[in-house]
Amino acid sequence: GFYVGTAVAGGGHHLSQPYPDPFTSDKEYRRILARQFSSVSPENQMKWDFIHPERDRYDFGAADAIVDFAERNRQVVRGHTLLWHSQNPEWLEQGDFSQEELRAILREHITTVVGRYAGRIQQWDVANEIFDDQGRLRTQDNIWIRELGPGVVADAFRWAHAADPGAKLFLNDYNVESVNAKSDAYHALVQDLLEQGVPVHGFSVQAHLSTRYGFPSDLESNLRRFDALGLETAVTELDVRMDVPEGGRPTAAQERTQADYYRRALSACLAVDGCDSFTIWGFTDKYSWVPVFFEGEGFANVMTGDFVRKPAFWALRDTL
Ligand code: XIL
Repeated sequence: GFYVGTAVAGGGHHLSQPYPDPFTSDKEYRRILARQFSSVSPENQMKWDFIHPERDRYDFGAADAIVDFAERNRQVVRGHTLLWHSQNPEWLEQGDFSQEELRAILREHITTVVGRYAGRIQQWDVANEIFDDQGRLRTQDNIWIRELGPGVVADAFRWAHAADPGAKLFLNDYNVESVNAKSDAYHALVQDLLEQGVPVHGFSVQAHLSTRYGFPSDLESNLRRFDALGLETAVTELDVRMDVPEGGRPTAAQERTQADYYRRALSACLAVDGCDSFTIWGFTDKYSWVPVFFEGEGFANVMTGDFVRKPAFWALRDTL
């Protein structure tokens, strides 16, 4: 009943697009992916720009391959993601659509994508990163909220639920590991959605952590307050990046600190009843998004680029 997952690398801005990607080209990678995990999350392959590249064309190839792979290996899948401000295709962001058209586009997308994998997805990140760090809805950079208003979030959950009544539907974000303005905003939103009878089932923390900022020591109590609302919780994108000079390697002390963060994140989830899904954002530094997105930081995963297990790997294994 407890799932340990990883993102499946492919399609990212930091990798060659769109093929070959590690999932299709790296045998050692696939072997570890199949053996070490009970859940998988497409890192990019179900995002709008990947799966819906033109208004009248979907590209399900990579997503299908991941879902098939997961089933062959008796793994569950976390779908990611349906309503987000980022990684949307040009045709959508630059398009000149009426409100009515946009609503129809979103509804059709959710119905099509969720419907295609109905019965095969354990959890869907329906809404991703809809609040900023101050806890304000992203009314400027999120096209859906900007053009259609905040009510579109509830609609997205309703449409997803109609397309796959068995999937658990999540709100997912970063910088919500602690009790803070942003996680407070989610706490309030969840209550509001539940009062309206909206099918929202989970709240998940991405947990892109950095040793620069310390471990969010109230992670467990934060998860508990969502548990108390009746929601499932999950850790969905854990990685722990650190500062390493160019060309350098992490020190043993840095790797111990990193292992400690991984262990504490897993312990927090294990300690909360409804936290049954724990996903790391890739398992090897070989394909990590971190060095490309965070200047001067890297080495965020549990295996080196050569698939050597780091202290963080053993910390997770010993905690399970
Ligand atoms: C990242 C991927 O890892 C990269 O490959 C891609 O280029 C950008 O997105 N929050 C999320 C994930 O919800 O989808 C992001 O994934 C990392 C932050």
